[in-house]
Amino acid sequence: TPALAPPMAGDVLVHADPSRYGEPVKVSDLGLQLVRAWPQGKDKNGDPVIRDQDPTSVLAIFKYPAGQVQEPTDLNATIDGQIVAYGDRCMHAGCNVGNNDQQPGLMNCPCHSGQYDPKLGGKVIGGPPPAPLPQLPIKMDGDKIVATGFFLSRPYGYTKEEDWKAYTEQV
Ligand code: FES
Repeated sequence: TPALAPPMAGDVLVHADPSRYGEPVKVSDLGLQLVRAWPQGKDKNGDPVIRDQDPTSVLAIFKYPAGQVQEPTDLNATIDGQIVAYGDRCMHAGCNVGNNDQQPGLMNCPCHSGQYDPKLGGKVIGGPPPAPLPQLPIKMDGDKIVATGFFLSRPYGYTKEEDWKAYTEQV
């Protein structure tokens, strides 16, 4: 069903926080503290549907000062090399990864202290996670942020080919 499908091309990123749930994320909302978002697609009738029924589809979005986002981030999948989006489930055991309160712009997993750097492709910089967070390719569409494809690497829980296929083929 559309609400269980992964983020995919054309999806608008909308706020996941209950206080702003469903509002499109704007550039002015973003900075070095993550903004959590869900992808919003369309159902068969063309009506909007927020894909919030699979916890793996939740996203974390950051905006960095110019020049800070570097490889292995896929820079073509960012907005102006400054705005990046990642899957927000920890690759270790699937917890939601949060902000690193000591170091703005970095991420900290509350479960076992996994550390990630979203400006370096979501790479692991500490703790037990076995793989980087999956980057989601994005672009601007008017004043909205939209996905341009699936996650660029397999998210938590979908590392097996058949599971990934099943996740990406449902709409
Ligand atoms: Fe994130 Fe274990 S679930 S470090």
